[in-house]
Amino acid sequence: MERDVQEILLDRVQIAAKVKELGKKISEDYRGKDLLVVGILKGAIMFMADLVREIDIPITVDFMAVSSYGQSTESSGAVRILKDLEVSVEGKNVLIVEDIVDTGLTLRYLLENLKSRHPASVRVCTLLDKPSRRQVEVSPDYNGFEIPDKFVVGYGLDYAEQYRHLPYIAVLKPEAYGREE
Ligand code: PRP
Ligand code: MN
Ligand code: MG
Repeated sequence: MERDVQEILLDRVQIAAKVKELGKKISEDYRGKDLLVVGILKGAIMFMADLVREIDIPITVDFMAVSSYGQSTESSGAVRILKDLEVSVEGKNVLIVEDIVDTGLTLRYLLENLKSRHPASVRVCTLLDKPSRRQVEVSPDYNGFEIPDKFVVGYGLDYAEQYRHLPYIAVLKPEAYGREE
């Protein structure tokens, strides 16, 4: 196990089972419809890659990159688009794929931004939901796990751009924060 990890909250087996379940549900709900799946970089990379492989209807994929956290563990509240979609969402059924909904600020921004482009529908699928931290009222349509108010890393989620590659969701040891490498 990675030396900075204190506790594994969700291991790869638990994640894989949940991703499979979510993919099945999404496939059923959108069968016979066009679906554009939008992964939110960078946190959603692994969830997106695993989730689309559990969807058994025709889809298209695209990505947006937004950032609010910067190098901190706390949200600054200001969301920036770092990379926009390459395709138009007008008239399409859009499914936003996020790794985590925390304060909800990122998601609220994404929803408002995408809805202004006149899609047929917009829904949200997140792997993790931390409702205790919510600052704005948003709720995902598909949610993998509700988690407690702990800062988590791995499976795409970072602390200061590190730990995204871990194949599980984990809590770091206190000494892992603010360490100069
Ligand atoms: C993280 C995470 C979500 C967002 C959730 O992204 O991936 O996108 O924060 O937080 P919120 O609900 O409080 O807005 P981050 O801005 O760290 O960028 P990243 O995905 O590139 O790590
Ligand atoms: Mn993110
Ligand atoms: Mg981040």
